[in-house]
Amino acid sequence: MTHILGSKRDFLDWNDEDAMEFLEITRDIADHPEFRKLEQFTHHLHTNRYQHCLNVSWYTYLWAKKLGLNYKEAARGALLHDFFLYDYRNNPPIEGNHNEIHPIAAFTNAEKYFEVTDIMRDCILRHMWPNTSASPETREGYLVSVADKYCAGIEVGSKSYYAIYPVLKQIYEMIEEGLI
Ligand SMILES: [Fe+2]
Ligand SMILES: [Fe+2]
Repeated sequence: MTHILGSKRDFLDWNDEDAMEFLEITRDIADHPEFRKLEQFTHHLHTNRYQHCLNVSWYTYLWAKKLGLNYKEAARGALLHDFFLYDYRNNPPIEGNHNEIHPIAAFTNAEKYFEVTDIMRDCILRHMWPNTSASPETREGYLVSVADKYCAGIEVGSKSYYAIYPVLKQIYEMIEEGLI
């Protein structure tokens, strides 16, 4: 497991209780050999899909905990949200809209290797909202959707994400001020 992009905190800091709890919640997934295959896939230009999933899971964990939600299932669902093992540009296993298809592929893999709760299912299957029509059914699901776009903005390094999703800028500023 590696450092989280854009975070001032280090989840390998033994003095950070949140970081230690995050590791405890997510380690079995993060260390699973099948899940680690995500490291082989470039994601959002400058990172890999494994690191992206860790980023989304970390922010989801922090925000869900702050909001009093089921942060454990939210963090695990977030970690699994892009658990699809193919290059969607060159070799997609199923034809169709990538936004619609890859959450289903991720959910199929998640169920194959891990126990998936209803909240985790919502986090995985609906994370592409609002780029897809089906909105999340849980607050945790909405949070993963926001965290996914927030992390994409950091990873790609594009401020355009903040223009498209003004709420992301507000969240970013809250993080900067140490509020979340
Ligand atoms: Fe995705
Ligand atoms: Fe994602």
